Amino acid sequence: MRVAKAGVVGAGTMGSAIAEVLAFNGIEVVLKDVDRATVDRGLARVRAIVEELVRFQEGRAPKEIERISELTGELTEDQRAKVATKLAPRFTRARGEEVVARVRGVTDYEAFRDVDLVVEAVFETYPVKRPVLEALDAVLPEYAVLGSNTSSLSITRLARGLKHVRETLVIHFFNPPYTLPLVEVSGGVDTREDVVTDTIDFLQGLKNHRYPLVPIRVKESPAFVVNRLLAPVLAEACAALESGLASSRDIDAAMKAGAGMPMGPFELADLVGLDVSLEVAETLYREFGDPKYRPSILLKRLVDSGHLGRKTGQGFYEYPSA
Ligand code: 3HC
Repeated sequence: MRVAKAGVVGAGTMGSAIAEVLAFNGIEVVLKDVDRATVDRGLARVRAIVEELVRFQEGRAPKEIERISELTGELTEDQRAKVATKLAPRFTRARGEEVVARVRGVTDYEAFRDVDLVVEAVFETYPVKRPVLEALDAVLPEYAVLGSNTSSLSITRLARGLKHVRETLVIHFFNPPYTLPLVEVSGGVDTREDVVTDTIDFLQGLKNHRYPLVPIRVKESPAFVVNRLLAPVLAEACAALESGLASSRDIDAAMKAGAGMPMGPFELADLVGLDVSLEVAETLYREFGDPKYRPSILLKRLVDSGHLGRKTGQGFYEYPSA
């Protein structure tokens, strides 16, 4: 599968970051959302993600010089120059500008007429996703692969009746995609086998800022692997909090210090978005009917209040600078 040009629909947290990962790999990307302001916010996010990598790379040598100086005393000019050469940015500011320039923001589907691959990353409900897939179906070239970054919805149902039904599949990235390498790939009942395997091969050839991507194949099933396991963890964490077992900070601290999680369940839910976490839990509960997936009342109330996590500046925690 050759992908010279890709499309991403939805310039939110995930869409803009997925666009960045594709552009980072040399692919031309069109990033679409409903209006110019939303698209511009997405493009600004692409730039910020690239900036973070440039700053990290530019900071490696000074950080190392500082570290060695603290251990052995001030370095000579020659020693500094050697460290600077060894840790010279592999990803330069100029390369960063190239990545940013590869992503073009649009508000309609015209530019999708010649894309090889699309990743739809709009809000996680059927009524929002389905019209986007229908609009894409109408403009995409016959050969294009149509991916949905759904966390939990049935791709068979999302793709039903589309002309591209056989080329439609789940391409599920994790937040943040430029750091986490996993991509869950799942075909629906009608997806062509070669579309699934070619997509996995294509993803296997890509890198994010830290790692080569790790695509895994998952049978079509609600919430696939990661969210199926994470949703009950969050529900249990909410139940523990509500029962007064420990504070949210201590529950998070416990799961980091005692279970090796990089973030506690509440921090993670705030990162993912409480609305998205609730949608995932509701889909799991609806599809399996098993009480272990029942969404927590606390999570529902927070979503009702509009406190959706980092993106709104408040969730289980407050984020004053958001
Ligand atoms: N390359 C190498 N190292 C780098 C780097 C780069 N490009 N950029 C930064 N670093 C270094 C930093 O300098 C820092 O080093 P230091 O500690 O020596 O100063 C170190 O890496 C830590 O960097 P960060 O501050 O970025 O922190 P982390 O590496 O811990 O990453 C995180 C943050 C990725 C958010 C991590 O905490 C994490 O993985 N959390 C879990 C996220 C998760 O589980 N997401 C999935 C949610 S589910 C989902 O998305 C599905 C959806 O459908 C709901």
